[in-house]
Amino acid sequence: MHNGTTITQFIIEEQRKIEGATGDFTSLLNDIVTACKVISNMVNKGELIGVLGSAGSENVQGETQKKLDIITNEVFLKSNEWAGHLSAMASEEMDDIYEIPNQYPRGKYLLTFDPLDGSSNTDVNVSVGTIFSILRCPGERVCPNKDAFLQPGTQQVAAGYALYGPSTMMVLTTGNGVNGFTLDQDIGEFILTHPNMTIPQSTREFAINASNMRFWEQPVKRYVDECLAGAEGPRGEDFNMRWIASMVAEVHRILTRGGIFMYPIDEKMKAKGTGGKLRLMYEANPMSFVVEQAGGMSSTGRQRIMEVQPDDLHQRVPVILGSSEEVERVVGYHCD
Ligand code: AHG
Ligand code: MN
Ligand code: MN
Repeated sequence: MHNGTTITQFIIEEQRKIEGATGDFTSLLNDIVTACKVISNMVNKGELIGVLGSAGSENVQGETQKKLDIITNEVFLKSNEWAGHLSAMASEEMDDIYEIPNQYPRGKYLLTFDPLDGSSNTDVNVSVGTIFSILRCPGERVCPNKDAFLQPGTQQVAAGYALYGPSTMMVLTTGNGVNGFTLDQDIGEFILTHPNMTIPQSTREFAINASNMRFWEQPVKRYVDECLAGAEGPRGEDFNMRWIASMVAEVHRILTRGGIFMYPIDEKMKAKGTGGKLRLMYEANPMSFVVEQAGGMSSTGRQRIMEVQPDDLHQRVPVILGSSEEVERVVGYHCD
C-alpha cells in the first residue's frame, strides 16, 4: 500500500492554487500521464510484443524511424486528441501539425512532444524517454496552423519528461519548481518521490558526444580540454564523463547529481546548414524549462534557449544545459 501523493492528486492540488482554473489543464496533464504509462508498458515488454527494431521509414528530419517511434507517436496522439483540451499537436515524427479531428471538441492548448527520445537505445535495452511541452493556443483556436506553435520557450505553460529506466519516472514543471514521480507498477500510479528537485550547482561531470570533437567550435573545445586536463590543468580538479545518447536520461542525471550536457553546433552542422542536432520545440525548450525551474541554466552558447524565437516546427538549436556554474563558464568562453 502506498501512502504517498499520486500525480493526479498533486496536479489537482496545484490547480486549486490558481484562481479561475477550469480543470482543463489538469485533465490534459492526466491524459499525458496515461500516454506515458502506456509507452512505459510497451518499452518494458520490448521484444515480447515485437516492437523493437527499425520500421524501415524516415521521419521529416531524415532519421530512420524505429517501430517504437511510430507506435509511441500514435499512442500520444490517441491519448490526447479526444478530451477537448487541445487544438493541435506537433511531434518529432510528423512533418506537419496534427489538428484535432472534427469529431472532437477543440481546446485552448497546443502540445508538442518527442514520443521516444533516445530511440536508438531501445534495441540495446538502455533508458529512453518521452518529452513534452504545453503552449497556449494564441487567438483563434478552432483552426490553428503551424505558426501558432512558433512561440519562444518562455511561453510554455508546462513541460516535462517521462524516463523509462530501471524505474519509470515522470518529471514535471508548471513554472513553479520541478517535481518527480515514480511509477508504482503494481497500482499503476505515479507517486511523488522527488519533490522540489534542484540541480547541484558545482559539479565535476560533463556529457558530450566526443566523436564530434574535431568539428567543435573553439569555446567548446576549450571547455572540454580543460576538463580533460584534470587536476593538473587550469580547473585544478579531475572530471568525469558520461554519454548515454538519451537526452532524457542525461537531463535526469543532471537533475539528480548535477553536471553539464552539451550538444553544441559544430563545423559539420554549419556546412550542412542546420542550427544544431536537438530540436527546439520538443526537446530543447521543454528540457530548458525543467532545468531552469530546477535552478540550472540552458543556453545555445550565445543565447538563453527559451528566448530563441522559433521560425520552424522542426528547428534545431545548439544545447548547453545543466549546473549554472558550468553553463556560465561555457557561455563566457563563447563571449571571449
Ligand atoms: P531521438 O532519439 O528523439 O532522435 O533523440 C536522440 C537525441 C538525444 O536524445 C541524444 O542526446 C542525441 O540525440 C544523441 O545523439 P548522438 O547519437 O549523436 O550521440
Ligand atoms: Mn529526441
Ligand atoms: Mn524521438
